[in-house]
Amino acid sequence: MKLFALISLSTLISATPVKRQVTASIDNLFKNHGKTFLGVATDEKYLTVQQNAAIAGQDFGAVTPENSMKWAAIEPSRGVFNFTGADYLVNWAVTNGKSIRGHNFVWGEYLPNWVLNITDAQTLIDVLQNHITQVLNRYQGLLYAFDVINEPLNQDGSLKSTHWTQVIGPDVFRIALEAARAADPSVKLYINDYTLDWNNTKVAGMVNLVNSLNPPGQPPLVDGIGSQAHLNAGEAPSVHGGLVALSEAGVDIAITELDIPGAEPSEYQTVVQACISVRPCVSLSVWGIRDPDSYRPTTNPLLFDESWQAKPAYNSIAGVLNSPSQPSSSSAGGSASGAGAGN
Ligand code: XIL
Repeated sequence: MKLFALISLSTLISATPVKRQVTASIDNLFKNHGKTFLGVATDEKYLTVQQNAAIAGQDFGAVTPENSMKWAAIEPSRGVFNFTGADYLVNWAVTNGKSIRGHNFVWGEYLPNWVLNITDAQTLIDVLQNHITQVLNRYQGLLYAFDVINEPLNQDGSLKSTHWTQVIGPDVFRIALEAARAADPSVKLYINDYTLDWNNTKVAGMVNLVNSLNPPGQPPLVDGIGSQAHLNAGEAPSVHGGLVALSEAGVDIAITELDIPGAEPSEYQTVVQACISVRPCVSLSVWGIRDPDSYRPTTNPLLFDESWQAKPAYNSIAGVLNSPSQPSSSSAGGSASGAGAGN
């Protein structure tokens, strides 16, 4: 059954309004600068908590399933699909008018043993094509983008050795992208990776990979590059240079998983400014709502604190987005909420 039939039910259980935490939606402000959305990673276990649903509903324009569309969650054994968590996320997004970035298909991590045990190339190709087709058929027309390929590169720009490349070879990327394109031509197909946060050899490797999958004269297979942007404090100023270098690939760019442990609020502002000033950067998503729910939980890297209060970093972003003209350099800035407050 496709998800459309389930959606009307979910309207009955959508959260009752909760007092607004902040005065401005950074998603709305970001869209005023011509961008597609400012989104957030989440999932059922967070969205069923009313405060999280209120923040995701009021302050963000898109959701990424933090874990519920990963291979082991969706197809824990061969041919047995469990869409429970992904359905919840998609239902919530459709009911609340949010875009959805799907995540992910071809990744070397978090694979169930039954996939790792497949050593025959054709069998693994069949399994991969079926998995992609099942997921995209279920959510036909509802997804804005999908991270078809996740973390394919080493830091030197070469292809990482994973179960996928060991058994199928580098052709796995083309095979996965073609399967996704065929299953739902309306979804933007992304390659997503980390440490693309400055102009480096991995960025060059990403541009080469996209170029090899989008040869001239053929319909492109890759629509966008995702830069995860799991930053460390102090790294934000280099993000602009990374985005400029990624632009060489001639596809959209999204900042997909932003978090910055221990940073000044102005660092978030600098990253948002970098996306605004680099035209191909279409969207930005942060990797979670509340600090204690972050996947880097000891480091307070997100925009809301444990009491669901907007942190200075949130207000710093709202401040820079409210200013009418944007400097093209990522180094301009300063905190709207005072230095030394922590993010
Ligand atoms: C992380 C989730 O946040 C965790 O909850 C999970 O235990 C592991 O995966 N890069 C990615 C994401 O592409 O899928 C990862 O998400 C974080 C790093």
